[in-house]
Amino acid sequence: MKELRKIHWGIIGLGNIAHQFAKDLALVSDSKLLAVGSRTLEKSQNFAKQYEASKAYGSYDELMADTDIDIIYIATPHDSHADLTIRCLEHGKHVLCEKPIALNYKEAIRMVEASRANNKFFMEACWTRFNPSVRQTLLKINNREIGEVKYINADFAFNVGTPQGRIIDIKTGGGSLLDMGVYPLFLAYVILGSPDKVLASANFYESGADKQTSMILQYQNAQAVLHSSFVSSSNMVATISGTEGRICLNSIWHETQSYSVIKNNHKVDYQFPTKGKGFTYEIEECHQCIRDQKTESEIWSHQNSLDLIKIVDEVRNQTGLKFPKENRI
Ligand SMILES: NC(=O)c1ccc[n+]([C@@H]2O[C@H](COP(=O)([O-])OP(=O)(O)OC[C@H]3O[C@@H](n4cnc5c(N)ncnc54)[C@H](OP(=O)(O)O)[C@@H]3O)[C@@H](O)[C@H]2O)c1
Repeated sequence: MKELRKIHWGIIGLGNIAHQFAKDLALVSDSKLLAVGSRTLEKSQNFAKQYEASKAYGSYDELMADTDIDIIYIATPHDSHADLTIRCLEHGKHVLCEKPIALNYKEAIRMVEASRANNKFFMEACWTRFNPSVRQTLLKINNREIGEVKYINADFAFNVGTPQGRIIDIKTGGGSLLDMGVYPLFLAYVILGSPDKVLASANFYESGADKQTSMILQYQNAQAVLHSSFVSSSNMVATISGTEGRICLNSIWHETQSYSVIKNNHKVDYQFPTKGKGFTYEIEECHQCIRDQKTESEIWSHQNSLDLIKIVDEVRNQTGLKFPKENRI
């Protein structure tokens, strides 16, 4: 069989998640980490050496201008997602941008328009959508194996102690909602769709970033109770409860290796160990879409990202979370 040409990746923003992503990228056989870009050349050179990237740039602009790169993974703080994504697309690059897609819906729609205008693939890095246990769970729900879903309970909470850096920095879109709350919101959305009504309340750090946010998504025939927090920890199990049983995505649910189906007091466990940390699946989806010349994924589409950020906007309207730099709706 003819070997596929490798897809050439670039990474922008060489922090915590970029390291984890680079490890998983190496597990996908038709990928090559071609170049990395940091605001600091030395950091870029060290990262390139560690993950065997061919080129190291000391600025994001130089990386965007590299004509050998097919797709750029954006792993910077939230306030820069829209601007960097649009600039990469305008440089003729496909883009995988970390979650949340942007600070708000208004920024996100500009990103989607840039993808269409430049005819380049663009996806929010919603890796949980591609997790094997989550995909199996969605199939089972669609096949009505737990009947009609009536209730979802999901959170993302851990006690960070004294928070530092971007997670508390309101200027870069910090706070538990955008960092972690988007995951429980994703789960409710992907199962029940956009809610009829959102109720939310938050506590804040002095910086203005939210410490903890609780949310109820109200649907005509169902409810989701969701939570994100930097000040308490949880068991990180997500429960989807239907009229004929329930499914638990086991801890840590958003990157889970297993799930359980409980029906008639009988529990069946299903193990689905991920390849690497689990970023491999969204990477494979990017490759397939690029090879098929698609501008968006059918599994996690532009509309899905727009719907999700719209729910986040509504949560923020309810809690009063504001970011100083954002271009509000
Ligand atoms: N999918 C997941 O599981 C997951 C997990 C954690 C985070 N994330 C997401 O990934 C993104 C990055 O998170 P992270 O935890 O990797 O953050 P991080 O460790 O703080 O790294 C972010 C990187 O962005 C660059 N950067 C550009 N402007 C910056 C600024 N004003 N302040 C700080 N850094 C800046 C820096 O890279 P250079 O110095 O190299 O330019 C920095 O190292 C966020 O969108 C976050 O929500 C996703």
